[in-house]
Amino acid sequence: MKVLLVRGNPRKNGFTQYLVNLFAAGLLEAGARVTDVDLAAEEYSLKPCLGCYHCWLIKPGQCVHHDPMENLLPVILEADALVCATPVYYFAMSSCLKNFFERTFPLAAQGLETSKMGILRNRLRSPAKWENKKFISIAVGALRAREAYEPLNQTFRLIADTLDMELGGQITRAESHLLPFKLSKPITLKRVEAAFLKAGREAGASGVLSAKTIADAELALSPDEQYFRTYANIFWETAVSMDATNTNSAKLQQRVSSDPDILMREMARSINPKATARLRAVLQFDFPDCQRHYRFTVDKGHCELKFEPTSSPDLRVTCATDIWAALFMRKLNVAAALRQGVIALEGDKSLFTRLDRYFPLPSV
Ligand SMILES: Cc1cc2nc3c(=O)[nH]c(=O)nc-3n(C[C@H](O)[C@H](O)[C@H](O)COP(=O)(O)O)c2cc1C
Repeated sequence: MKVLLVRGNPRKNGFTQYLVNLFAAGLLEAGARVTDVDLAAEEYSLKPCLGCYHCWLIKPGQCVHHDPMENLLPVILEADALVCATPVYYFAMSSCLKNFFERTFPLAAQGLETSKMGILRNRLRSPAKWENKKFISIAVGALRAREAYEPLNQTFRLIADTLDMELGGQITRAESHLLPFKLSKPITLKRVEAAFLKAGREAGASGVLSAKTIADAELALSPDEQYFRTYANIFWETAVSMDATNTNSAKLQQRVSSDPDILMREMARSINPKATARLRAVLQFDFPDCQRHYRFTVDKGHCELKFEPTSSPDLRVTCATDIWAALFMRKLNVAAALRQGVIALEGDKSLFTRLDRYFPLPSV
């Protein structure tokens, strides 16, 4: 498959780039011949369409501008699949991607015909080149509500229809600002990442994404609006508190993954009501390296978290924050941690051995 991947994200190191890099890796794994175009890069800087119809009336098929689009038009025609990725800006695609589509106007011509969706569209100059061409869109936005993405997805469907391309799939990755919270959603985020890689493989093999892959790539990252709001706020508070690296999604991810407040909030949230149905206990977690204390009051299936110490808990756990993060993520074995003496326990140690049952890894 010859695939033209068009990246419409102006921001480097953002969430669109992070996900589309996985997709691009999948394309290559599938053996696709990929032209990877970053519209934000200097080399692909495109002048705006002037709407002058030079490409229809003066020199048919040729734009009045002489810029990188001259080389891209033949690549579009020759591609078996066109993949477009964009961050969502005001319910729409980024301006550079929109401009890219406007600049495809020389490929169309005057003279109307009916599209597959039954809409009158401009004739295509080389209709055979569009036959069987697949179109895939990837939209990455911060908002949670699906309706907020519908105008953009509908625009993509109309573009595919007007250029006579077959829709190979649309991925709507909402809640982008929750993507750095690996600690709180380790299972879900692994599935999302794997799905973007798989989507790339499917696109590279056939130009068509499976419903399962799309569903995994779009997995919800928050169970409800309140949770979403909390984490979106934590995202911004963290970003504001950082230095200039706050625009780098990987750096932000590192930062939130080592924040013990987030870790302990997630642990409290993940309580297993069945396993703790008969349990009443106060658990204290002390992290001397950052001088933080967390008190869990477990009462028959519920857990109340207080960010303060208590003098007589049923169990006190003392360790470094990164050790607790590794234990929580099941990257460090409890027995090994106790053997190495990197964790200290006081009180009812049997409670400690059951913690992974009381507080399983959160999956959403
Ligand atoms: C100008 C602007 C407008 C935005 N409008 C929307 C929007 O309408 N819907 C949405 O879900 N997110 C919106 N966002 C948030 C971005 O889509 C979100 O931050 C996304 O992760 C940006 O992609 P990036 O991380 O690759 O830069 C907007 C962001 C900017 C800068």
